[in-house]
Amino acid sequence: MLEIEDLNISIGAHQIVSLEHLSIPAGRRLGLVGESGSGKTMTAMSIIGLLPREAVVTGSIKFSGVEMVNRPERELSNFRGSEIGTIFQDPLRALNPTMRVGKQVGEALRLHNTVPNKGVKQRTVELLDQVQLPDSAALARRYPHQLSGGQQQRVLIAMAIACNPKLLIADEPTTALDVTVQKEILELLARLSAERGMAVLFVSHDLGVIQSISDHVAVLYGGSLVETGPTDQIVGSPRHRYTEALINVNPGHPEDIAASLGKPLITIKGSVPPLGAFLSGCRFRGRCPHEVDTCATEPPITEMPDAHSFKCWNPVPTTISLAPGEAGLAKESP
Ligand SMILES: Nc1ncnc2c1ncn2[C@@H]1O[C@H](COP(=O)(O)OP(=O)(O)O)[C@@H](O)[C@H]1O
Ligand code: SF4
Ligand SMILES: [Mg+2]
Repeated sequence: MLEIEDLNISIGAHQIVSLEHLSIPAGRRLGLVGESGSGKTMTAMSIIGLLPREAVVTGSIKFSGVEMVNRPERELSNFRGSEIGTIFQDPLRALNPTMRVGKQVGEALRLHNTVPNKGVKQRTVELLDQVQLPDSAALARRYPHQLSGGQQQRVLIAMAIACNPKLLIADEPTTALDVTVQKEILELLARLSAERGMAVLFVSHDLGVIQSISDHVAVLYGGSLVETGPTDQIVGSPRHRYTEALINVNPGHPEDIAASLGKPLITIKGSVPPLGAFLSGCRFRGRCPHEVDTCATEPPITEMPDAHSFKCWNPVPTTISLAPGEAGLAKESP
């Protein structure tokens, strides 16, 4: 349903994103993860043509077979809010402070003529029910500032799904929320995706959040896709050293955070270099504790079964289970 091939995004002399291949089949949930500055938002925004004016995009982004790269703005805006829904980090900024929330959901419905005018009110209440807002008819008459952060994000989700999009792009939608509300919103998104067969591109710097919502994960570092695969493989047996580092620093779910209290916080050495300051070869070079001489040249893509692939010269060893009766329990492969 979404197929990205050889996508390059640059601003001035700087290459911000360079992706060989990324796809989201219909109904799937892909998590895009990486530290701040990895290029996650740029990648997500390129799909709907909302990049800064000075950004130059090459390559191909096909949505339901339609090429989105360098498509005229008038045509791209038809996709936004109808075929592709979006939600972002800061719900209050995305809502109009002077308009009742029900009216804002209604506007989303009217914009794309999803329901006849006389059905808008009823459909608005149905949508607010679907995102599990209490007493939705009364809540529809409130203004955004009269709602909690979690309720505001639910209203935005209602607006995003108003036109039954095939794809929902959610960029750090729970980052501003506390842990309990975050969990509820993630469960809501997973449920809506399953019920509607709606694909989700979920963007977060937090691998724990990504793990809880995604069936596949793409790990981005310095604008480069370093590892992709099924979530259980990426989290259970990562191959790239950056993915391994992300897993080691991830405090995980609330119960793990509680267990880690008082223990020293593990962090990835250094920080993502500014644009133009990446070393040649592997972009994680300089921060990676497993660097070898070959890392100064660009690592090739290693393909593994189940569409798991990575780009690393000195990957995390994997254990391959042998059939019962074979000598040894497991053997390490490079
Ligand atoms: N308008 C812009 N002009 C120039 N560079 C930008 C602009 N917006 C973002 N960048 C740069 O692009 C890189 C990727 O940014 P972004 O996609 O926002 O990262 P992420 O979402 O992973 O935190 C960063 O290095 C950031 O500084
Ligand atoms: S290619 Fe080298 S520097 Fe890059 S992550 Fe792998 S081991 Fe580390
Ligand atoms: Mg971002």
